[in-house]
Amino acid sequence: MKKILIVFGTRPEAIKMCPLVKELEKSEECRTIVCLSGQHREMLDQVMEVFQVKADYDLSIMKPGQDLFDITTEVLKGMRSVLMKEKPDIVLVHGDTTTAYASALSAFYLGIPVGHVEAGLRTWNLKSPFPEEFNRQGIGLIAKYHFAPTETARTNLLNEGKAEEDILVTGNTGIDALFFTVKKDFKSDVTEWAKESRLLVITAHRRENLGKPMHEMFRALRRIIEEFEDVKAVYPIHMNPQVRKIADEELAGCDRIRIIEPMPVNEFHNLLNAAYFILTDSGGIQEEAPALGKPVLVMRDTTERPEGVEAGTLCLAGTAEEGIYKKCKSLLEDQSLYHKMSEAKNPYGDGTASKKIRAFLEEKI
Ligand code: UD1
Ligand code: UDP
Repeated sequence: MKKILIVFGTRPEAIKMCPLVKELEKSEECRTIVCLSGQHREMLDQVMEVFQVKADYDLSIMKPGQDLFDITTEVLKGMRSVLMKEKPDIVLVHGDTTTAYASALSAFYLGIPVGHVEAGLRTWNLKSPFPEEFNRQGIGLIAKYHFAPTETARTNLLNEGKAEEDILVTGNTGIDALFFTVKKDFKSDVTEWAKESRLLVITAHRRENLGKPMHEMFRALRRIIEEFEDVKAVYPIHMNPQVRKIADEELAGCDRIRIIEPMPVNEFHNLLNAAYFILTDSGGIQEEAPALGKPVLVMRDTTERPEGVEAGTLCLAGTAEEGIYKKCKSLLEDQSLYHKMSEAKNPYGDGTASKKIRAFLEEKI
C-alpha cells in the first residue's frame, strides 16, 4: 500500500487540506499520514476540531513573535525526522505558507516526490504577498505533481515549463469545505445582533500590511461605520498581537463594530453567507466569497486570484484609507453595482477537488 504524507500548519491550509484528508482516508490503495507543523496553534486546532481530523504528528513549532527564520528552520528540521521515519511515497503540501515551502524543501532534500495542492497561483511580485509568492513559486520548482485550482493556474504552470501530464485542474479544495460547512437558515448571536442592519465582515492579517496599511484599512472601516447608521461590522480578529494592537488603536469604542475571537470555520463560513459584503486581505476568502455570491473589497494591491475579479465578485481596493473608504461607500450606495458584484459565480470548482486529487494519486503513485 502506498503511503501519502500530508503536511500543513496554518488555519487556511487546514481548511483546504482536511477535505482531502477525509477523501484519502476512504482509499483502499493508499495510507494517509497527517503531520501538523503547528505554525498556528489555536487557529489550527479549531479547524481540526470542526473536521474531526486527527494528526499522526505535530511538530508544535509555534511561538509568540515567531519570524520567518524560526518557522523555516523549525519546519525543515522537524520534517526531516518525520520523513526519515515514515519514508512516504509522496508528500502533499498546500498553497504558499512557510510550512508548505519548508516541508517541500525537506522532502526535496530527501528525494521524496512532492504534490502541490493549490498550485500555479501567481502575482509575479515577490513582495506581494510576502513571503507567500516566493513560497508558492519555490514549491512549484520542487513539486512533481501540481494540482491547479483553475485553468489560469494551469496556464501559469505550463508557461513555466511544467509537463502537461503532471498538472491536474481540480477546482479548489476550499470549495469542497464549503459543502461541509454552509447550512441554510444558520443563526448565531452575531447574525442576530446584525439582523436589522447591513453586515460587513472584515478580516486582515497579511505581513506586508502590518503597520501603516493596516492603520489605514481600519480607519476607512471606522469612517464607514460612523457615516452609515444601518451598517454594522464584525471582525473575527487574527491572533497575531501586532494585528490586535492596531485594531485596538483604531477601532476601539465603536458600538457598531464587534471585534471577536477567530471563529470556528463552520461558523465563519455561515457568517460570510450572512454578510452584505466583505473586506479582507485574506487569500482563502477571495475563493469562498464568489461561491457564496458575496462582494469582496480586497484590501491589497495585488491578487493571485484574478478569476474572482473577472467573475465580478472581487474588487481590488488597495490599502490606502481614501480608496477603501470610497469603494465601501459606492458599494453601500450604488444598488446596481452591489447587485452586479453579488451574483453568485464560482470560478473555483464544484466541490469535487479532493475526489479528483485522490483518483489522480491512486493512478500515479
Ligand atoms: C501565516 C502564513 C500566511 C497565511 C496566514 C493565515 C506564512 C509566512 N504566513 O501568517 O501565508 O495567510 O498564516 O492566517 O506562512 N498566532 C497565535 N495562535 C495561532 C496563530 C497565530 O497566537 O493559532 C499568533 C502568534 O503570535 C504568531 C503570530 O500569530 O507568532 C503570527 O503567526 P504566523 O503563522 O507567523 O503568521 P501569519 O500572519 O498567521
Ligand atoms: N476563517 C475562519 N475563521 C475566522 C476567519 C477566517 O475559519 O475567524 C477562514 C476563512 O473562511 C478562510 C480562511 O480562514 O477559509 C482564511 O484564513 P486566513 O485569512 O487566516 O489566511 P489566508 O487565506 O489569507 O492564507
